[in-house]
This record gives sequence, structure tokens and C-alpha cells, in this order.
Amino acid sequence: MTQQTQHNRIIIFDTTLRDGEQSPGCTMIIKEKLEIAHQLARLGVDVIEAGFPISSQGDFEAVQLIAREVEGPSICGLSRTMEKDIVRCGEAVIHAKKPRIHTFIATSDVHLDKKLRMSKEQVIATVAKSVALARSITPDVEFSCEDAGRTSWDYLADVISAAIEAGASTINVPDTVGYTNPWQYGECIAYLRSKARGAENVVFSVHCHNDLGMAVANSLAAVRAGARQVECTINGLGERAGNASLEEIVMNLIVRKDFYGMETGINAAEIYRASRMVSKITGMRIQRNKAIVGANAFAHEAGIHQDGVLKERTTYEIMRAEDVGWTGESMVLGKHSGRHAFKSRLASLGYDQLSDEEINRAFSRFKDLCDKKKDVYDEDLYAIVEDEIAQGEEIYHLEYLGFSSGTEAVPTATVKLRKNGEMLVDAGVGDGPVDAAFRAIDRITGMEATLIEYSLEAVTGGMDAQGQVSIALDAGGRKVRARGASTDVVVASVKAYLNAINKILRLQSAGENSESSVPKQSM
Ligand code: KIV
Ligand code: ZN
Repeated sequence: MTQQTQHNRIIIFDTTLRDGEQSPGCTMIIKEKLEIAHQLARLGVDVIEAGFPISSQGDFEAVQLIAREVEGPSICGLSRTMEKDIVRCGEAVIHAKKPRIHTFIATSDVHLDKKLRMSKEQVIATVAKSVALARSITPDVEFSCEDAGRTSWDYLADVISAAIEAGASTINVPDTVGYTNPWQYGECIAYLRSKARGAENVVFSVHCHNDLGMAVANSLAAVRAGARQVECTINGLGERAGNASLEEIVMNLIVRKDFYGMETGINAAEIYRASRMVSKITGMRIQRNKAIVGANAFAHEAGIHQDGVLKERTTYEIMRAEDVGWTGESMVLGKHSGRHAFKSRLASLGYDQLSDEEINRAFSRFKDLCDKKKDVYDEDLYAIVEDEIAQGEEIYHLEYLGFSSGTEAVPTATVKLRKNGEMLVDAGVGDGPVDAAFRAIDRITGMEATLIEYSLEAVTGGMDAQGQVSIALDAGGRKVRARGASTDVVVASVKAYLNAINKILRLQSAGENSESSVPKQSM
């Protein structure tokens, strides 16, 4: 039975790598996207929206690589309705076993009048043409009416009818600006299913943004009204307030199956791993009280709750931490652990695609860490591995860092970087050793970027914990986030700073936003 014919099966469409990546500073490198895509496949999502191929060479290559290498889910690329977008998108996804083209155009009055400057009839004609073109490339075509949440329902029905007639098999109704509410949105979906011509032959999909905190509730209301595909992201990552969170949607459907009566193909035990991986790679922390994946989501603080849970777990728990793959802070390995144990532990954390060279580098970091730190936890391994993945594609490599500071001294730092085999050295003074080191790096790299965020947290508990520094830089409007970890916080800061600079340089050389008319952040 196909996904489309099953009445009670919800298709989970993950857009972490496309809409999630549009979250400011969350741009990922290809290797990171591939790592996440493999984890999404293990999680059991039905569709991975891997990127927006026309937007840059980097996006194109990432979508193409994921299409070639990741098995299981359909691999989808986003495209506007222009011919060149659709053709490029087709080239990126076509090598997938199940390629999908997702094309969209705005339908609300404000978008038509002010952004597109097109009449309603012109939009309908464009939809028919572009969906037919996409359909000539792949049978799996999704069409979205951008800003559907603020579009008149009658007009939506006309646009959707045109898309269905031209061959779209999935119709997505996005609440692009997070404006709607569960009652209206549910009614809207029911209305469109009853009015659009051919609606009974397609899957209705929803895509909700969280500007009013309604993304998950709206998506679930749409499911009740007959939508059978939900678009969502891990940790609710996404522009502004984010997208509907995958883990919240899925756990609602599982925990309240009595109410929704729906199935998904998700292996919930992979949720926690996916959540950690996305957070580590993007540098976007998860708030402690975030539903399902926050550090406090399963913690019982109040005595009365603890007492109840000890007597009977279900007094205060509607699901178990283990159900979403949370196994607690486990001490994983020690000084005497070998490379084999290390490698299999990484695989169990979701990193089973690392090259031998990456494993060797990470293993040597792990051994160094064991000399400095008594117990090594999963969190330490995440920090090491993310650092290594970022460094694998580095342009500048940190060879040496020396610094001095103190209550009376002027903080100074000397930094030696290697670029293409050449050693580059400089020194800086600043109002602390971190500032001094950053200035030295700026002098070497010539990078003019503004530090817009800096934060330091302990990776685990204990006096010997590694410090993890998260940084966001703004280089001429391009924001990137990066992290660095070390038992020395100045070293961790310098690694994070250098990772961010390398990321900016890589994105520049991959031609990010080379198509200047495709500003990802304002789509
Ligand atoms: O929010 C939105 O409207 C989108 C579309 C491109 C699907 O992300
Ligand atoms: Zn969106």
C-alpha cells in the first residue's frame, strides 16, 4: 500500500535542512547536512527536504549528495515556480530512489500586490505551468501556496485545483507567518479538501510556523481535518520563532493515539539522538523546559511528584524518557578504552558515517581528554566529534595558541594558524585573553566580522568538565554559528571563533546566495 492510500498514516516531512537552516546563523556545511540526513533516515521520516538547490552551489551539492547517499526517505528539493529553479532542483534530486520536487508561489493579497506584482490569474497560470514542468521530471511533485494562512479560501481552492490538474500529488497549505489558529486552520483544510477539484486524489499537507506559539497545535488540528502530511523540523528549528517541532507532533500522535488514531513511520527511540545532533551542529541550544527533548522534560523536582512517580510512574508521567531514546548521562568510556569501543560508541550516538581519518582524529582527542578528565560522557563525545567534523573542512587550522593575562598584566595572545601548508603568526592585545586571541586571528585572516553572540557552558558536570563555547558572527549580513570545546576555555573560545570564520569562508567559496534574488532569510 502506498503512503498516499493509507487512510490513517501521517507522512512526516522533515525540513530541518531547508526551513530549519533558514534560522539565522544555522547554516550548515555539506558534511553536517549529510550527517543529519542519515540520522533523519534512521529516525524514519518519510521525506527529507534537503535544501533549496537554486539558492547556492553549496545547497545544490548538499541536496545532490543526500539524494545519492541517503536511503529510505524521499529526497525533496525546494524551488520557486521559475523554470530555471525547477530544472536545477530536478538535477539535484533526480539521483534519489524517490525524488520529489517541491515548488511554491505566494497566494495572499499582500504577497501578490507587494512582492510578486502579479494578478491572481497570472499566479494560477504560473502554477499550472511550473507543476507540469516539475511533473515532467519526477512523478512526485509537491505544490505549496506560500502564505496560505492569510489567503482567501476561495482563491486557495482555485490555485490548488490548478496544481492538481497539472499533476501535483501533494498539496501543501503553509501558515508561513504563523498567523492562524487551530480552529480556523482545521476548517480551512476541511474546506479545501471539499472544494478543490481532484482533492480526493492528493495528499494534503501542512506547514506551520510558530510566531504565535501555535505551530504544533495548528498542525494537529489540520490532521484532524484530513491533512495526511505534516512538515516539521527537529527541535522546531526554523526562521523567526521556528517551525512545528517534529518531536512534539510525533509524540502527540503516539501518546494520544486514542484521540488522533494515526500512525507514523517514526522510530521514536531515535528522537533524542536527532535532537542532540541538530542542536550540536547548528549551535542552537534547546531550552531546558522544551517539551520532549529539553533537559527538564522528564525531571521531577517537586517532592509530591517524586513520591508519586516512585509509587507508580504513570501518576505524573505520560511517556517515558526511554521512549524518545533518552538514556541519561552515561559514563561511556575511559582511559583504557580502545579505538573499536570508541568507534562503536560514536555509531550508537548516530555518527556512523565518519571516515577513518575523522575517527582517528577524534580518537586521539578522546585520549587527550582522558588524560585531563576522569570520566568521559556522551556529551563529551558529541563535543569532540562536532569539533572534528567542523575541522575536517577547515581553511585555517589552529597550530598554536599562547596567552598571558592576570589582574595586573595586559592580556596578550599569540596565535599560529596553518593555511594550505603555510604558517601564519600574529599577536594581539585585548581586554582579556579571549579578546586578544580573537584580535590576533582577525589580523591573520583579514576577516571583518562582528561577534554577535558568545556563550560558555560546561559540557558535563564536575570540576574537570570541558567548556563548550558557542559563537555567532555576522560578516556583512551573513550570520554563522559555531562551537568549540576544550578543558581550557580560552582554547575552546579560539576553536569556536576559528570554526565560525572557516564556515564563513567555506560558504563564500560555495557561492552561498550566489543567486542574489533568492534571499533565503526572507522567503
Ligand atoms: O513557510 C513557507 O511558506 C515555506 C514554503 C516555501 C513551503 O517554507
Ligand atoms: Zn516555512
